[in-house]
Amino acid sequence: MDSERPTIPAKPLLRALGGEAVWPPPAWLMRQAGRYLPEYRELRAQAGDFISLCTTPPLAAEVTLQPIRRYGMEAAILFSDILMIPWALGQPLRFAEGEGPLLEPLRTPESIAALDPSVVVARAAPVFETVARVREGLATEAPRTTLIGFAGGCFTVACYMLEGKGSKEFPVARSLAYQDPALFGRLIRTLQDATVEYLVAQVEAGAEALMIFDSWAGMLSPGQFRRWVIEPTAAITRALRKRCPGVPLIGFPRLAGPLLTDYAARAGVDATAIDTSMDPRWAAQAVPATMALQGNLDPLALVAGGAALEAEARSILGAMRGRPYIFNLGHGIVPQTPPEHVTQLMRILRSA
Ligand code: CP3
Repeated sequence: MDSERPTIPAKPLLRALGGEAVWPPPAWLMRQAGRYLPEYRELRAQAGDFISLCTTPPLAAEVTLQPIRRYGMEAAILFSDILMIPWALGQPLRFAEGEGPLLEPLRTPESIAALDPSVVVARAAPVFETVARVREGLATEAPRTTLIGFAGGCFTVACYMLEGKGSKEFPVARSLAYQDPALFGRLIRTLQDATVEYLVAQVEAGAEALMIFDSWAGMLSPGQFRRWVIEPTAAITRALRKRCPGVPLIGFPRLAGPLLTDYAARAGVDATAIDTSMDPRWAAQAVPATMALQGNLDPLALVAGGAALEAEARSILGAMRGRPYIFNLGHGIVPQTPPEHVTQLMRILRSA
């Protein structure tokens, strides 16, 4: 009888990342923990500033679990930020209300040369403690839910480090990449090394899958995209495959357009996330059916709710049915999203 003991089926998100066409698809939402949730706003007010929230493990773990308790998504994403690596590298960072992130921009070759990737893991210790706490929480509260760790893509993080703030065009970073590719490449390599150590530490703490958010990848020319997005990502995925074999990776080259094909083929990721502007039918053709796709509901359809939300969600599901796929948004949830629209969305997905 003992030999007939059923094996525990892998979590749905991990099965999809392994290339299985799981249906209904596993689902989670970028920025699923955040200001649209009243319980988040309450905790955020207790913590004071955003960085304190990210570096106080009991609070960050609680915030990570909040949407899982409400909606039961198949993945929890670590509550942190892509700018924790610049912060851990010692670059002054704050999040100003209504302004987004503000960093003291890197303006000299010396300030780039002085960055030391070997300090990141020690300084980011609270992040790994959060990962461990979330993993423990999921084991008891949501055993089918996968914990995703993450980092920013090197190019996107370099954009913020050089510009010092959000921008429509990130001209400082994109100009430096042409004018002094050796210096820009030095920053990218520092971030590459820091990112590998930072992601390995998340896996050692309990992250079961990883995602790389390259939010500004789509601003680059094709040549620059290959050099500053695909190549560094491929170097990171090669290192991670050696050091954390079997841990799947999701890449998000936002606004890549037709360069998505190159990215999917050469960045070394297990799954490619697509943004709102991408036609899911095109992506389903362009990316081999052995590789999972993730995305790409318009966050504003989620704000609208009702029939508009249902039509958009069903159209994406129709394009993805029969292939490995993870439902998600095409960009993060916006703060004005009514929480009950997420309930409606989860109901649509579960009856897919
Ligand atoms: O729920 C989750 O998705 C997990 C946590 C997460 C945050 N940021 C929390 C956050 C993740 C995965 C990120 C990624 C991130 N951060 C990206 C890549 C994805 C994307 O949106 O393109 C980028 C570019 C950033 C940088 C960043 N952080 C910006 C531009 C801002 C300001 C805009 C905003 O929404 O306020 C942040 C702040 C931030 N990161 C908040 C949260 C919940 C808001 C902080 C607050 O509560 O005031």
